[in-house]
Formats: sequence, C-alpha cells, structure tokens
Amino acid sequence: MLASAGNVSVLAIESSCDETSASICLDGKILSNITATQKVHEQYGGVVPELASRAHMQNIVPVVDRALKQADFHLNNINAIAFTYAPGLIGSLLVGAQFAKSLALALEKPLIAVHHMQAHVLANLIEDPRPAFPFLCLTVSGGHTQIVLCESPYTMQVIGETIDDAAGEAFDKSAKMLGLPYPGGPLVDKYAQSGNPGRFHFPEPQIPGLNFSFSGVKTAILYFLQNAGKSYVYKEEFLASEEEKKAFIEQNLADICASIQHRIVTILLNKLKKAARETGIRDICLAGGVSANSGLRAAFLALGQKEGWNTCIPRFEYCTDNAAMIAITGYYKYLKNDFAELDVDISARTALI
Ligand code: KG4
Ligand code: ZN
Repeated sequence: MLASAGNVSVLAIESSCDETSASICLDGKILSNITATQKVHEQYGGVVPELASRAHMQNIVPVVDRALKQADFHLNNINAIAFTYAPGLIGSLLVGAQFAKSLALALEKPLIAVHHMQAHVLANLIEDPRPAFPFLCLTVSGGHTQIVLCESPYTMQVIGETIDDAAGEAFDKSAKMLGLPYPGGPLVDKYAQSGNPGRFHFPEPQIPGLNFSFSGVKTAILYFLQNAGKSYVYKEEFLASEEEKKAFIEQNLADICASIQHRIVTILLNKLKKAARETGIRDICLAGGVSANSGLRAAFLALGQKEGWNTCIPRFEYCTDNAAMIAITGYYKYLKNDFAELDVDISARTALI
C-alpha cells in the first residue's frame, strides 16, 4: 500500500526490556503490532539482561519484517522510524536504537526517539474510547508505577510514583514467596478469582501525597508466610517449619492471593481517587501490563462509575510492552517535527519528558 501525499506512516520499534516489538502506524491508525516475547527468562525467575539483548538481536529483523507484511507496507513508503530511547535495560535499548538508526540512515528518513513511559500513557489514544485532555493515567507495569497528568500528547507530568517497588514487582515478588513461577502476577490474579479478599488483612502503607510504596506489604507477606498465617509481623514464637509453611500456602492459596491482590489494588486506587479529587480531572485511564489484572480492572471501573469518571483501558496488547504505543507517540512527534539526531543516546533512566 502506498502512503499518499499528506499521509504520515511510522515504523516503530520497542526493545526496552524483554519484548521485541515492531508496529506500523498510518495517520495515527495502527496497521500492525508484532511482539516476540522472550520465554528464556522464565527459568531464571526474572529478566537476564544479556540474554534479553541476544534475543532482541535474533528477533528484531523477523519482527520488523512481519510487521511490514501484516500492514501490507513496503519500507520505501515509511515516512519516519521511531524507537524507544529510554528507560530500560541498556543492552536491550541498544539493539532497537542501533537498528532504527541504521534504517533511518539507509532510507534517508527522520528518526524519532520515544520515551517508553510517555508511550504507555499515549496508548490510550490508539483507539476509542479515547480520553479527553487533560486526563490522568495510572501506569502500572513490572518496572513502574506512576500517576501521570497528561495535558496533551506533548505535555505530561508525573504527579505520583512509587518510592520503592513497582506494582508488577509487588505481584511478582508475592508470587515468588508463594512458590509460583515467574512472572507470577497473572497467577496471583488467577488464584485470586476463587478466593476471599477479606480473609487476610495486609497493612496499607501511610505514604503522604500521591506516592506509592509496596515494600511494607511485601515484608508483611514474608512474615505472614514464615509464621504460617499467625502474624503479619516478625514473631519468633510463630516461626513455622518449611513443611508447615508449604501446607499453609497450599490450603489457603486462593484466599492469600485474593487478599494480596486486594491490598495492591486498594493502594493503587486510593491514590488514583485522591489524584482525581485534587486535580478535578474526570477522564481517567490505566496503562501498563498490570492493567491486565482482573481485580484492578473491575475495581477501577466500579470506582469510576461511583466517582463519575470517564474511564479508559487500552486493549491488552497495547497495555503490555508493545511497539504500537511507540508508533502512536512517534506519529504525534512527527506532526511536531520533533526528530532526533542520528547520534542520539539511549538512557536506562530518564525522567518523563
Ligand atoms: O508492562 P509490562 O508488560 O512490562 C513492563 O514494562 O514491566 O508489565 C509486566 C508486569 C509483570 O510484573 C507481570 O507480572 C504483571 O505486569 N502482570 C500482572 C498481570 N498480567 C501481567 N500482574 C497482575 N495480574 C495480571 N493479570
Ligand atoms: Zn513498559
């Protein structure tokens, strides 16, 4: 398909962590979004950076090729190349950045450097229902937990974020303590569905303002399991043997998962409610991989109805790490002629905009 004059077509690449993804976007419409997920990390219980870089190197060419084919697009018809420059694992970012730069040079097309967290927020602009500006976005992933006030595709501000673990980490680390395989977030969700969320009461942290903390909950879960459910704080007299602990988990897995999920979700939504009330903003969105959590989605929609919010949650494939969100952000940057030099650097940590 030929991009006619006036059309804007963007080829986008995302490689910040352990997903290699490519997407084609034409005039803000996503034509393809191909993601190769790296299974190699499961056996290690977390992402191994060097293995991630190698897998990106293997995947990137076939993934871009598939994205072009699915969109029925030829490279010659691409107007710009967008890629994730930050934040992420350095070795992973390098693969996507180097590929994008080489392509931009060879095709003599502009290069667009995209911030991964800005892209998670703008995933809400991919398809209807879209939020109206200004909106708030709760971005919850394995590496980040932020409340972002988004005034336009170009102006956004982090108004709250985690001071320790991210929400996804809280799910994954809880799952690990329960002996579940990595990444355990989806499994906690699965077992929680048949459990009683009110059975165990993990403490809610008292953090001022709009910031989050999950380390206290994590410690409470650790002691709770070490004490086979007899205490949420360290008590030597309750210390259980490994067998007692295992048996306790086995007999109560659904209720434990439901109670952990309930606490993580209430921490997230209480701060989101506070942010909405303080700013007076009523268009509220979710983003990031943890927004797949069924408990969070249900509680978010229920809260939105109660508070009179206009709620949006992107389709799941646009919530987890994906290149479609890089493409839509690239499209908006293209409209503003916001292009990067070919020697632009990558960064493991860079503040949002
Ligand atoms: O956004 P994402 O795909 O990658 C990062 O940028 O981190 O998020 C992955 C995180 C992992 O921590 C994973 O356990 C969590 O999202 N996650 C879930 C669910 N699905 C994915 N956590 C809880 N419930 C789920 N259903
Ligand atoms: Zn992400």
